[in-house]
Amino acid sequence: MATILDGKAHADRMLEAVRQGVEARLASGLRAPALAVVLVGDDPASHVYVRNKSAACAKVGVTSLEHRLPADTPQAELDALIDRLNTDPAVDGILVQLPLPKGLDSKEALHRISPAKDVDGFHPMNQGLLLEGLPGLRPCTPSACMSLLAHHGVALKGLRAVVLGRSEIVGKPMALMLLEQHATVTIAHSRTKDLPAVCREADLLVAAVGRPGLVEGSWIKPGAVVVDVGINRVEDPDLAARIFACEPKKLETFQAKGAVLCGDVRFGEAMQVASAVTPVPGGVGPLTIAGLLTNTLMAADQSK
Ligand code: GUN
Repeated sequence: MATILDGKAHADRMLEAVRQGVEARLASGLRAPALAVVLVGDDPASHVYVRNKSAACAKVGVTSLEHRLPADTPQAELDALIDRLNTDPAVDGILVQLPLPKGLDSKEALHRISPAKDVDGFHPMNQGLLLEGLPGLRPCTPSACMSLLAHHGVALKGLRAVVLGRSEIVGKPMALMLLEQHATVTIAHSRTKDLPAVCREADLLVAAVGRPGLVEGSWIKPGAVVVDVGINRVEDPDLAARIFACEPKKLETFQAKGAVLCGDVRFGEAMQVASAVTPVPGGVGPLTIAGLLTNTLMAADQSK
């Protein structure tokens, strides 16, 4: 049986480091770091994310400033808010919650955020710094995954890593970070020919495609480390029966609740083949917020 890589426990370690950083700032007479979160519209998942972010901020002493705007907010108004936050000396980090409602251009909004306050690490300036291997604000989920792997002593040098998914938020930056640590990296995606065979070559498999249970046990090389970034809500009983066949407890939960969260990897199958696996929930999910607050502290410390 594989080891479970406990993301919640590692997120708590990262948050404790942020809490200490905040304390050090206060002790030297600086104010607490402040994160401005911009939430447009009423996407229910986004509201949950934002609530979790505010709770984590409170836990570590980061000031959370929420800006809620209606779904029909014009682009010019969103842009004007970002401009104000960019020049506000009481704000260190700016996060525009995605997805934005229809009619708003997320690229335009994200590119408008000052790179020094871009705690998501999505601005082209920060993407460019990552590409060059220079310090900057880096995307939260992949940075926190790298921190988790380092904590568990996964030696990346020369390792064959496959990143499944090519998003700007996870896949591409994760591949760059692994490359920086001297892994041999393949980015695979929905158009990759013979995806199972490509995944089977991976000593480290990072799944970030948003497809519940896509990665079967037979896709995993024996002894591989598996990082499952997917967080998917499963409501289809046939799919649940298939992907939870090796996880009777999860199937029971599904039957009781009619829906359950599941990663991109079939966890029960992965546990029988891999050497280490992140669970869903309790794996990468909690790490993202820990990465965000780490970035917020870094942005504050860099502006003083
Ligand atoms: N929506 C879902 N995940 C994220 C994230 O990491 N950052 C932002 N800004 N929005 C999101």
